[in-house]
Amino acid sequence: MKYICMNCKIFIYDEEKGDSKLNLNPHTNVENIPDSYRCPICGALKCCLHQLNDDKISLKNDEKGVVDKDLNYYRDEGRNLLTGLCGVYPVCDGDPDHTCTGQKYGAPIGMGGAGQAKTFEANYKALQQFRLKMKVIKSHKEPEISTSIFGKKLKAPFMGAPLSGAKPSLNDIISEEDLYWGLLKGAQLFGTIGNVGNTPSTSEKLGVTIIGKNKGWGIPFFKPQSQDRLIKLFQLAEKLDVIAIGVDLGGVGSTYWAHNKKRVYRKSEDDLQELVDCTGKPVIFKDIMSPDDAMKVVDSGADACYVSNHGGRVLDCGQGVAEVLPDIAEEISGKILIFADGTVRTGFDVLKILALGADVALIGRPLAQVCVSGGYEAVKMYFNYVLDDLRRAMILTGCDKLEDAKMNILTV
Ligand SMILES: Cc1cc2nc3c(=O)[nH]c(=O)nc-3n(C[C@H](O)[C@H](O)[C@H](O)COP(=O)(O)O)c2cc1C
Repeated sequence: MKYICMNCKIFIYDEEKGDSKLNLNPHTNVENIPDSYRCPICGALKCCLHQLNDDKISLKNDEKGVVDKDLNYYRDEGRNLLTGLCGVYPVCDGDPDHTCTGQKYGAPIGMGGAGQAKTFEANYKALQQFRLKMKVIKSHKEPEISTSIFGKKLKAPFMGAPLSGAKPSLNDIISEEDLYWGLLKGAQLFGTIGNVGNTPSTSEKLGVTIIGKNKGWGIPFFKPQSQDRLIKLFQLAEKLDVIAIGVDLGGVGSTYWAHNKKRVYRKSEDDLQELVDCTGKPVIFKDIMSPDDAMKVVDSGADACYVSNHGGRVLDCGQGVAEVLPDIAEEISGKILIFADGTVRTGFDVLKILALGADVALIGRPLAQVCVSGGYEAVKMYFNYVLDDLRRAMILTGCDKLEDAKMNILTV
């Protein structure tokens, strides 16, 4: 018999063939798969494996109107709207009759944090320790959510964080091109900006080239390679008329770059200034986690300081973003734009990050997940879901405009 993972609706387990990557010999029946099994694509539990009859999936009633097609439809278009949001919501509850729609927090394969993932955990805990104060007695106003960044009007103060590495991090089920395209186009269709990173397994020009194909709508982030190399990449980005150019300074700790024997370096204050001076485009320095470094970014003449620990993917046992953001904001707010990320998942999280001092909140892992399953449509859908919650959060905390999101709407 064949079984399909009902969480991602992509992975198929064939009992006859077994699965060598999962150490399952041919003729291993589903009942004999160990409980430690996790779907190699989405990380869902064994209870999500549902039997396939003649390569057809029996869908639940509420899914029928949306997708009532055969398996090939699911696999080709399998990145469809319905599956788009899978993998984003809470933990699988283990109930075999319940289509599990998620995996354990931080567990998606290849997307965890460095080492023991303590920094990733710190991001989550630091942000969640803040709670929103509810205030509803005030004349009613539709909150003003749109904003403007680098002269571009955005529907909401959030963007996609730069991502890359479809092969090592997303189990090679989507090409690097498709990942970048989904992130960029989904963000644009929603009304915000998509950012792309770069990975050593493809050309470091790939992300910026795809932004070029998207008529410049997007921001490339380059790893901190040699100054010569970076300046050439900045020149290419400028030629392709991107919105701004970023460097993820924490990329100096990237394991992928080390494994691929590509050199990445710490950057000095002079290096930062040289990069800012070599382009007419706005420059963003990412992976800033201290007021001291933030001041150096301001002094370099950059246009934005991106507070992040790279999603906990470089330094283990580090601080959480929400722990350091207020001190950084106190030092540099009003001098330069402040971007921040780190387990921002909902509109409620966005409001908290803004209240802690950021001008823009950025969302990482969930976009990679939805992009893999639903392409740009799912990315757009996810942003809409964040927008809905942000609007609700603003109404319920008495915020009429984004500037009202200050520390006084938070409590610990
Ligand atoms: C799969 C994956 C790939 C990433 N690739 C890059 C990259 O190429 N450049 C970069 O600046 N950051 C990269 N990041 C870090 C994100 O930009 C961001 O800082 C982090 O994911 C934010 O945390 P969140 O995932 O909890 O929202 C990557 C993160 C993930 C999960």
